[in-house]
Amino acid sequence: MAAIERQISTTVLVIGTGGAGLRAAIELAEAGVDVLAVGKRAKADAHTSLAAGGINAALATMDPEDSWQQHAADTLKEGYLLGDPRTAEIVARGAARGIADLERYGMAFAREADGRISQRFFGAHKYRRTAFAGDYTGLEIQRALLRRAEQLRIPTLDDVYITRLLTHDGGVFGAYGFGLIDGTRYLVHADAVILAAGGHTRIWRRTSSRRDENTGDSFRLAVEAGARLRDPELVQFHPSGIIEPENAAGTLVSEAARGEGGILLNGQGERYMQRYDPQRMELSTRDRVALASYTEIKQGRGTPHGGVWLDVSHLPRQTIMSRLPRVYQTLMDVQMLDITREPIEVAPTAHYSMGGVWVRPEDHSTDVRGLYAIGEASSGLHGANRLGGNSLIELLVYGRLTGQAAAAYSRSLTAQPRSAVAVAQARAEIDALLAADGPENVRALQRDIRNTMTEHAGVVRDEAGLRAGLTELEGIEKRMEHVGIHPDIAGYQDLAHAFDLRSAALAARATLEAALERRETRGCHNRADFPDLDPAFQINLVWSPTAGVTREPVAAIPDEIASLMEEVSTEGKLAE
Ligand code: FUM
Repeated sequence: MAAIERQISTTVLVIGTGGAGLRAAIELAEAGVDVLAVGKRAKADAHTSLAAGGINAALATMDPEDSWQQHAADTLKEGYLLGDPRTAEIVARGAARGIADLERYGMAFAREADGRISQRFFGAHKYRRTAFAGDYTGLEIQRALLRRAEQLRIPTLDDVYITRLLTHDGGVFGAYGFGLIDGTRYLVHADAVILAAGGHTRIWRRTSSRRDENTGDSFRLAVEAGARLRDPELVQFHPSGIIEPENAAGTLVSEAARGEGGILLNGQGERYMQRYDPQRMELSTRDRVALASYTEIKQGRGTPHGGVWLDVSHLPRQTIMSRLPRVYQTLMDVQMLDITREPIEVAPTAHYSMGGVWVRPEDHSTDVRGLYAIGEASSGLHGANRLGGNSLIELLVYGRLTGQAAAAYSRSLTAQPRSAVAVAQARAEIDALLAADGPENVRALQRDIRNTMTEHAGVVRDEAGLRAGLTELEGIEKRMEHVGIHPDIAGYQDLAHAFDLRSAALAARATLEAALERRETRGCHNRADFPDLDPAFQINLVWSPTAGVTREPVAAIPDEIASLMEEVSTEGKLAE
């Protein structure tokens, strides 16, 4: 029986219903522009709801010396000079407005007794500038955005999987997909498309992303449409992911635990950050803390299950319950561990794609006319090490700007050419996969990619490992030609897994090739065979399947920001 196909027309299609997608959709709807948002999972459960410890803005509620310039300076300095200065300026300048928007949507921030928004320290910020709601900040933001989206009656579709962006002559004109429950096809015509479907950290085995999220969808959709990726090798490993049980491995223990005074100990009970960053200790940058933990574990000073201890048990119980309720609850749920009494066994976990789709700083437009990318799908702000709390503010700032830019682009169109061939290809792609009856299982192949990336492109990399990773990936890509797809009475998840697999393979290839090219150690990217930072690599690496890796200069930093940056030192960075 031929599949039912729903045809929908809208002005702007937003792919992804997490914080970035919702914020962009709200901007459009508030301006009276027709918008449709689609997501592959339930919007209340989007990945943003997992974001924990906070959102940055130089509000100076706790430290009056803070300024947007200092926020930008900290961001660029701790990104090891690979972040785009214009992007950092736009985010830091626009951050207070982002927080005000959230307040307008009814977000419940933690406050001081006199009503000021509380702000706490996060690693490597000069001042306290991380606003929060316990350690459920992302969940509160998602709820506030959803409330506003409902008030504005923004149409959203949950459980719709976008398989392809529709393009003609270098411009996007919509997208194609299918429903995960009943396989209904969706042909969406739109003037502009905003891609907000996350990053690629689920292609590592230990990750803070759940099953089927951050599988590299944005990367594949954009690249197949003609866009490029920037710095896909720059992946943040967060220092504290839980180790057990296996099915929850990588689940985040928020940096807020260290921000509130938690300490890190190795298996011998030593507070090992003393050796790696004696000044900042546990509040050092994420890349340093992750590498320090990795080194302790590798050199045999780990805990029984191959991790380190994160201990908050010395903090007042009341602090833990009010400031770290999610960490408390999570450890109770998955390990029956009471963190007010016992330390947590943690290890680095793949947490955030700092690279992503190549975008312009002013409006996050891409190489494809009418296509925009935001949030973890995009690139530019974080460089080689993201400051905790910067991702949430970025999506507030760029959600607004990208919504405005997409609306302006639509207004500028006098006509929009479409392509029947592009639509036919999108239909045929799904048909071919549904007819696939080979012996290879898509879940098993996804697992193989995760093993390859964990083995060869983790916290520390080298040329031999990266080349071995590429060889393994080639084998996996060949086996992908022989998959069998079996939607069943429960739904079309198997078909979605097949597309996730394609996305994961593309994201893995881009990551490995760029990681091979970046022959230096910088931020999150530790090359055991090139242990020093190389000034010649103070550039972005741009990847496409046809051109491979090319180099792009980073723009100059304006004086008012540069003068606030202290020197970036790599002292204490001990790549094996
Ligand atoms: O540790 C955390 O709470 C994570 C925050 C972030 O990645 O921004």
